Amino acid sequence: MSKPRIWITRRLSDATLERAARDYDVVINYADSPGTAEEIIAASGAFDGIIPCHSEQFSAEVVAQFSDRLKIVANHSVGVDHCDLPALKSRGIVVTNTPDVLSDATAELAMLLMLGAARHAVAGDRIVRSGAWDSWSPAFMVGKQVTGARLGIIGMGRVGQAFAAKARGFDMKLHYFNRSPLPAELSQGAVYHDTVESLLGVSDFLSLHCPATPETSGLMTAERFALMPEGAVFVNTARGALVDEAALLAALQSGQLSAAGLDCFQVEPGGNPDFSRFDNIFMLPHIGSATRQTRDAMGFRALDNLDAFFAGNTPGDRL
Ligand code: 8YV
Repeated sequence: MSKPRIWITRRLSDATLERAARDYDVVINYADSPGTAEEIIAASGAFDGIIPCHSEQFSAEVVAQFSDRLKIVANHSVGVDHCDLPALKSRGIVVTNTPDVLSDATAELAMLLMLGAARHAVAGDRIVRSGAWDSWSPAFMVGKQVTGARLGIIGMGRVGQAFAAKARGFDMKLHYFNRSPLPAELSQGAVYHDTVESLLGVSDFLSLHCPATPETSGLMTAERFALMPEGAVFVNTARGALVDEAALLAALQSGQLSAAGLDCFQVEPGGNPDFSRFDNIFMLPHIGSATRQTRDAMGFRALDNLDAFFAGNTPGDRL
């Protein structure tokens, strides 16, 4: 029997590509350019499965133009806001993601952003690197202490829980908002808030770990930033769509927030050019899950889902 034909839209890890080439009739986009709408539409008639990244948009408009061959979209990502799930499901296309395997890498990056934002990592590095470090005083680059501070987490799923575990190592007092409270063995003493507003009031540090959905779009508004304690630090490793970026800038400018650590932006790639004027924003280019181990694990998880599907089983991460 011939092998299923698979399109891998981006240059995934070597181990992933080797395994894919062994098990499937695979076309790999070694050029690594994001798949365009035209390419995705054409692929729907030429392939049985696609492994895309969040850089490929499966909008309702794109899916409406699909041919009938495509059977599965096995995402190499946990977030699926680039996929119109109802549109794909209405075409009978199975969609999967890669949960769990990127939680620690993303939580590590959130910790880096939180510490880096709180302790002026960007401005400090620039001063030393540029040779402009010509004096020192006790009041120089005084930051905000993480140890013992109150941390608010919005979205206590797998990544939120992994971040909470790391924050416990800094003796942070944990608070969270989630659609529902976690069982005690998972919340491990973190205080549940049944509204975002209630959580914000106690968040000296706030980190977003919820998915971008129509309900969470624009979650962080000017009104909500204003509810945080003055001088709070804001961290986002989830999605740019969760944040009103103009409101975030205004909050940083007024001192309502003392700093922000951002791995996600409304416009990617590129980010927000207005952010570059602010030394108290520590920015990274959407690399939350970018560790060698995690890239392999994400690729293998996507392939596990494909393998299950083509063996006639329900993929473990079917959405
Ligand atoms: C990935 C992510 O790098 O998995 C996600 O949802 O945002 C990132 O960690 C990216 O999506 C890979 O496609």
